Amino acid sequence: MNDWRDIAKTEIHLHLEGAAPPDFIRQLASEKKIDMTGVFDADGNYQWVDFVDFLKTYERACEVLKTPEDFKRLVEAVLAESASHGVVYTELFLAPDFCGGGDLIAWKEYLAAMSEGAVAAKNASGIEARFIATCVRHMGADQAKITSKVAAETASGLLTGWGMGGDEAFGNAADFSYAFEQAAESGLGITSHAGEVCGPDSVRETLDSLPVSRIGHGVRAIDDPELVRMIVEKNIVLEVNPGSNISLSLFKDLKLHPISALRDAGVKITVSTDDPPYFHTDMTAEYTNLHQELGWEISDFNAINQTAMQAAFCDEITRSKILKKFEGA
Ligand code: ADE
Ligand code: ZN
Repeated sequence: MNDWRDIAKTEIHLHLEGAAPPDFIRQLASEKKIDMTGVFDADGNYQWVDFVDFLKTYERACEVLKTPEDFKRLVEAVLAESASHGVVYTELFLAPDFCGGGDLIAWKEYLAAMSEGAVAAKNASGIEARFIATCVRHMGADQAKITSKVAAETASGLLTGWGMGGDEAFGNAADFSYAFEQAAESGLGITSHAGEVCGPDSVRETLDSLPVSRIGHGVRAIDDPELVRMIVEKNIVLEVNPGSNISLSLFKDLKLHPISALRDAGVKITVSTDDPPYFHTDMTAEYTNLHQELGWEISDFNAINQTAMQAAFCDEITRSKILKKFEGA
């Protein structure tokens, strides 16, 4: 197959704010007269030099996202773009910190608006979406307790998961145990970024102290064979984002990326884009590169999509409906 755009795909690691097309952010900035100097390069793309700078640019761009209506428009735009790459099921990370700062009444309005956006997108293209509320690690454990409380109190409908992004080097995973337990008790599915910019110890600490069934990235676990065995034994699914990792210079190219080694070791892996416009990628590009550089074929893609749906934070009817698209071959 030469064109990987049209084949059905799932994505379980996509940041809503990080998927905002630069034009979308520029348009809102001009409507609201917000200065975006330094956010974009001369070609109009997001500009950053390393991981910490990426997080800064990300937060600057988020300054234009103010009202529930802004977030509704963003959900529709992002899901339309995903659907155009064949994505039939997606999970969007979104941070309550940017949607009312942890105020429950405000958060409910944002969540209702984003849910409306997802329903509109589903009516337009058929794409199924679920939301994973995330705390921002470098905002600290106290703020995470506040945001996990609002997530726990609104755990229903399209809000089906809880997770953590942000600067992995900030604090210890165990500092966030309370926030994660609170979210888990409400029935939300649980994931956390780890083993992206920090090494295997960060993944081990996350597995030891947070009730996760999935890890965002986790690829740096490859440096610790014992940890890789633990991931397999615990049945942890990795949300791997090869293009993001390469763009952030964690690995030079796909041939040097640990996705194959992890898979060969028996780890359950999936493929997503993380923050596509920041990392100059999309789901078609990810599949095309895996095919061209690692020789992946439709059976390999069906396998990762089945893994993603088995690990998806959704109801059983949706799971089996989407799983059917990846049976056979
Ligand atoms: N937030 C958005 N993208 C992220 C990434 N790649 N790592 C950690 N936090 C993030
Ligand atoms: Zn991420």
